[in-house]
Amino acid sequence: MPELAYLNGVFGPIEQAKVSIEDRGFQFGDGVYEVMVVYNGRPFLFAEHLQRLGRSADAIGLEYDFDAHPIEPIIREGLRRSELHDAMVYLQITRGAAPRSHVAPEGITPTVVMTFKPLPTLPDELRRQGAKLLTTPDIRWARCSVKAITLLPNVLAKTEAFRRGCDDALFISADGEVRECTSSNIFMAIDGACIHPPRTEAVLHGVTQAFLVRCARAIGIRMTEQKIDLESLRRADEVFLSGTAMDVLGVTLIDDQPVGTGRVGPLTQRLYREFIAQSRGGGASEGGSRSP
Ligand SMILES: Cc1ncc(COP(=O)(O)O)c(C=O)c1O
Repeated sequence: MPELAYLNGVFGPIEQAKVSIEDRGFQFGDGVYEVMVVYNGRPFLFAEHLQRLGRSADAIGLEYDFDAHPIEPIIREGLRRSELHDAMVYLQITRGAAPRSHVAPEGITPTVVMTFKPLPTLPDELRRQGAKLLTTPDIRWARCSVKAITLLPNVLAKTEAFRRGCDDALFISADGEVRECTSSNIFMAIDGACIHPPRTEAVLHGVTQAFLVRCARAIGIRMTEQKIDLESLRRADEVFLSGTAMDVLGVTLIDDQPVGTGRVGPLTQRLYREFIAQSRGGGASEGGSRSP
């Protein structure tokens, strides 16, 4: 079965998986989620994703008993049933279904939803030419380190970016700090070293970001965590993104102004190659076989 759903203990076709209209995910966006990928049958960074899921659930007081009902065996069973070798797994846990009231009643059972789909690939042209970003005020809540399903600002920002011919929106705080894109973390490179914004409450602590930092160190590229203002970002030699759905992606235009030479830069390409080698090839390093 190429696409598969899981809902509260039952696997089946996606179109048959139905959630109550009283589910708090539907009513309030009261839930947390993760997106994970599988390359060639090998789950990539699942432990890190599931740890973050646990932290997100804790942060909003969502009482899911991860010890009694571990998530990983369910994912593995879904992957087995779907027979997908390269897969994207979407996993969402909401506080559960109950008559609509802001205060959740005690003892409701969380709703667990997963989908298993073939891994989408990024268009070659986007990878070659790099992404175009549109800056936008960060109107999201103050706890973006929680991976909550409440994504309306991201939806609106990305839709506006698309409407204006861009690939994504880049959130900028009221005092001009660069935060992140709608589903990726951002980095800039200056004089051969890379910087990414601090992993505060204001951004998601990307699993891909942490992996990429390790890749960079493995090939001797300096990575530091530091506040970035928009003006510095515009003057950077290179800018790139990291995220589960894109690995590492160059950015070549921000608000119609070219970044650096206006092409995906050499450091981004090196990091991308290293990332592919480490994530797909089982740790082969610099000089690996896949080109960006
Ligand atoms: C707002 C935001 N930032 C960053 C990321 C990248 O996180 P990860 O690398 O864990 O996929 C995501 C992923 O969906 C995201 O939604």
